[in-house]
Amino acid sequence: MSGAHDLSTTYLGLRLANPFVVGASPLTDDLDEARRLEDAGCAALVMRSLFEEQITAEETGRIHHLDPLDQRFAKVLSFFPNPGDYGLVPPEYVEQLRRIKAAVSVPVIGSLNGTNAETWLQFSRQMEEAGADALELNIYEVITDPKQAGTAIEQDLVDVVAELKGALKIPVAVKLPPFFTAFGNVAHRLDQAGADGLVLFNRFYQPDFDIDELAVVPQIQLSTRSELQLRLQWAAILHGRISASLAICGGVVHPDDAIKAVLAGADVVQMVSAVLELGASCIGTMRDGLVQWMDAHGYASLREMRGRLSLSNCPDPAAFERANYIRALSSWTRPGTPLNSHPRGEADAHH
Ligand SMILES: Cc1cc2nc3c(=O)[nH]c(=O)nc-3n(C[C@H](O)[C@H](O)[C@H](O)COP(=O)(O)O)c2cc1C
Repeated sequence: MSGAHDLSTTYLGLRLANPFVVGASPLTDDLDEARRLEDAGCAALVMRSLFEEQITAEETGRIHHLDPLDQRFAKVLSFFPNPGDYGLVPPEYVEQLRRIKAAVSVPVIGSLNGTNAETWLQFSRQMEEAGADALELNIYEVITDPKQAGTAIEQDLVDVVAELKGALKIPVAVKLPPFFTAFGNVAHRLDQAGADGLVLFNRFYQPDFDIDELAVVPQIQLSTRSELQLRLQWAAILHGRISASLAICGGVVHPDDAIKAVLAGADVVQMVSAVLELGASCIGTMRDGLVQWMDAHGYASLREMRGRLSLSNCPDPAAFERANYIRALSSWTRPGTPLNSHPRGEADAHH
């Protein structure tokens, strides 16, 4: 099959020319970089996050729900970066959003990163007024209090989304961690609360230890492709079961990764590490690889191939997932073991 391929897709109700979105990162801090990414063919841009702590510190002097009069305040404050170290302070963030909107024609998505429904959410309105085409809410919190139950955390999340949907006209995506007992149920409740999209998944950046200095050191490592499978699994489980758009974010580095993401059921893929490492041109490589694969497999549009490997037609997804887990564990063979010493070739049982 040759000729034009329709790579268009819909994400958060926005029509995109293709599924390649640049994820939340410092890449849009530079206007020329944002233009380069658009010229390289990215379909939308997500700005770096503005953090709850930046907004509350500026507006109320509070940080992490702590009042300056609290005796722990100074110590807790010392945990966080100095205001100037965040990359963009709140007023600058809104200005940068306006500038990017004026510079590019692809959708620009603002990102708010916080923990629960407090005043900082109001800032989403300023992003909307500044021209954001959508808001990406990144709820990142490590629940360290053993007495705090998961149900309360989940309900908070649903409430935040419902509040945002009540306050904003622009679509809202929720970037989530995978660490929920019943992630499918959380996704379903966010969908019911009006979330327009779910971004699977946030990466958790655990600090490291400096054993010479006996210090805890924050660190960030770019992704590897090994991040992808967890995201494929959940996109394949959720595809066709929720109406919110699905974005896969994490481990999309090679065209095959994007092809797998769409086959799992994703509407778009978000890429950061690949763009930071390989530059904007990697977006063109991703697109060409996708078109070549579609050509070779007879797909004329993304719509035709989306969800082909999802579990939407599987009679018992839970059984399928468990069976795959058991197969994976029992498929390992010691290096050098002859191939036919193992029962292979029965992998495609669920269709
Ligand atoms: C340098 C850097 C900065 C990032 N900043 C943000 C951010 O501000 N907000 C956010 O939600 N994610 C942020 N992320 C996470 C990315 O958006 C993305 O979720 C993660 O890198 C996984 O995608 P990837 O495998 O394509 O890199 C950042 C990642 C990197 C590497």
